[in-house]
Amino acid sequence: MNKIVRFLSIAAAMIIALAPAYARKVKKVAPKEHTTVEIPKVTKQVIAVETSSTQLILLVNANGTVQTCHYGRKIADPNEFLNYNSGLGSLYGDGAVTYPAQGGRFISEPALSVKYADGYRNTELYFAGVNRTSKDLVNTTEVLLKDYVTGLEVKLVYDAYLKEDVILSHSEITNAGKAPVTLIDYASSSMYVRGDKFLLTHTYGDWAAEMQIDREVLTHNIKVIETKRGTQATQWNNPSFMLSLNTDSFSETDGDVIAGSLAWSGNFRISFEKDVTHNLNVVAGINPFSSEYELAQNQTFITPDMIWTFSSEGAGQASRNIHAWARNFGVYGGAAIKPTLLNSWEGAYFSFNTETLLRMIDDAAAMGLEMFVLDDGWFAMDYPRDSDKQGLGDWEVNTKKIPEGIDYIASYAHSKGLKFGIWIEPEMANPKSNLAKTHPDWIVRSPGREIYQQRNQWLLDLSNPDVQDFVYGVFDNTMQLSKNIDYIKFDSNRPVYSYGSDYLGKDQSKFYVDYVQGLYNIMRRVREKYPDTIVQCCSSGGARVDYGSLKYFNEYWASDDTDAMERIKIQYGTSLFYPACTIASHVSAVPNHQTTNVTSLKFRFDVACSGRLGMELQPKNLTEEERAFADRCITSYKSWRDLVFAGDLYRISSPYESDYYALMYVSEDKSRAVVFTYCANYLNRAIGTKTFTLQGLDPSKKYKVTEQNVDKSIFSGNGKTLSGEYLMNGGFNIKLFKTMSSAVFYLEAQ
Ligand code: DGJ
Repeated sequence: MNKIVRFLSIAAAMIIALAPAYARKVKKVAPKEHTTVEIPKVTKQVIAVETSSTQLILLVNANGTVQTCHYGRKIADPNEFLNYNSGLGSLYGDGAVTYPAQGGRFISEPALSVKYADGYRNTELYFAGVNRTSKDLVNTTEVLLKDYVTGLEVKLVYDAYLKEDVILSHSEITNAGKAPVTLIDYASSSMYVRGDKFLLTHTYGDWAAEMQIDREVLTHNIKVIETKRGTQATQWNNPSFMLSLNTDSFSETDGDVIAGSLAWSGNFRISFEKDVTHNLNVVAGINPFSSEYELAQNQTFITPDMIWTFSSEGAGQASRNIHAWARNFGVYGGAAIKPTLLNSWEGAYFSFNTETLLRMIDDAAAMGLEMFVLDDGWFAMDYPRDSDKQGLGDWEVNTKKIPEGIDYIASYAHSKGLKFGIWIEPEMANPKSNLAKTHPDWIVRSPGREIYQQRNQWLLDLSNPDVQDFVYGVFDNTMQLSKNIDYIKFDSNRPVYSYGSDYLGKDQSKFYVDYVQGLYNIMRRVREKYPDTIVQCCSSGGARVDYGSLKYFNEYWASDDTDAMERIKIQYGTSLFYPACTIASHVSAVPNHQTTNVTSLKFRFDVACSGRLGMELQPKNLTEEERAFADRCITSYKSWRDLVFAGDLYRISSPYESDYYALMYVSEDKSRAVVFTYCANYLNRAIGTKTFTLQGLDPSKKYKVTEQNVDKSIFSGNGKTLSGEYLMNGGFNIKLFKTMSSAVFYLEAQ
């Protein structure tokens, strides 16, 4: 009883003591008046972003909201869109918002979502101006949007490439408010697409099986293609897609297609949200996964470019638009011819010495190749790079293997009329290396946790400027090994696991973005000093294939899978978005080292010749007859490779929908073409001939057709002069029915 009395009196005393404080507190949280910041009214207007035959229409409403009305065929008077009624009011607040931000009445997938210093999360963007400039055949439109409550500003930048029918779009987000803000979602671009059916084509894959095709008709809700791999971003998925509109079948030649590709070499996310009106909103940009990014006052974040194209003539034209843009603007070095080469990897791996390399150079020269590339294994003394278990990071020449040094080998190659290239993988370190021991702080790691290995290696922290200097230094120092280095193969063989950066401290969530920016900083410096060096982008094959890297790299190694049968599918998938001048494609030994498949030397050449041709085997293992055949193929390739590098691609048959894969490249003036045909499966002999309908020729021109690299042709019209009309309408029928057989034809207008 006493206890209860004591408890009650203590409680009463506490209430009396706290009462004044409570009263003060109540006073403090008295509700504030709610005032609404006024949004300036603007003049209703249409902003048209136009190329030769396409048009993107943005409509600025009087209340300042900006919506996307149209992306497709060009309409002569864009101002007719002033009458446009999106009918989407209640769904999107005000039509199909061009750059939807989390806030206002927008409750779908945002392009922008921001956390402000006071914890609030709403952003509402209103029109604040438009600016247009023009240079050569590129028109730039900048649309300024503003949040009048927080001061956040977003500039939407559209570069319209008139001739190529390509529009690049990105956003620039400026914190013009008074306190730091945190970007949560910060997409490059969003595109509202009207229709009722959308067939999405995108890629998936893995090491040695990149760029496989997936296709699906989108259903309601959200489909996402993305990666969280950090480095090696494109090993499983590529940031590229095609949307065939209002159809459930993929056509190379017919129908409306929108294609897109994000120019970013790290985590990406592209979402396709089919809404209740059955239309589609596409949001593309850096993956927000674990990547909140704080912006200080007056700081601007520039997002990567999203590349868009529209075609009303099927997927083929969409590819050709992107390829033309890539050759003219998007790829370092464009369509300039790159040398045919012999790469040492599959022919020698880690075991070689000076003698091995000199003999390979002799053989390459004898077969008519134009460059020798020394791959992995040439460096590290304390931990010699004799396997992938050690040495990575220690970039001194292994003088036990090559006592005479790199200059000796490079100069020997030059003396034989060959260029010389060399491999580096500067973003990485084996734990067994002096680098890893002297700079543990440069390794991507987080306190107390295991630093996981992949291919026995660790990742260097490119968010750290000192590491960027080191990586740049590896490139620069390698170039100093000989004045005869013409080509660098820049490799990168692992993804990001369990990330952590000693350098970033509390800003860990900037890691994924700053890593990619770090890579680009390095490559910018590389290009300033070495504008003419050919640099190949390799990442365990095709794990860094994107238009962010291609700004600095001339080409990429499409896959470690050199089996020509496998390459057919890999190169088909790649060709949807990337031009042939960027695709390095090598003839290797049989049985194939990855698949053990055996194909004929002709088949291997016919596949490799549809990209930048190379060889990757030990030439001394070839018979005299095989070497002579290689010489023949290399010679013919050189006579029409300008078509592969700069011609327009027409895919005639898909390896996914048929037993055949066929493609052709046609010169701009349609006077020359080269046609590649492959048969993947044995077809009943009774079928006799396969008829291909060629494309892209001039129907009124007469072409002399010459099959390449054979004594006896499988085409009855071989050596004859046939009209483009005939060849494109059923006259090109060839006897191609054996498994893994192929034929290549050169066409020249007479
Ligand atoms: C991976 C690349 O894809 C190969 O071509 C080869 O360069 C190896 N790395 C070397 O380690």
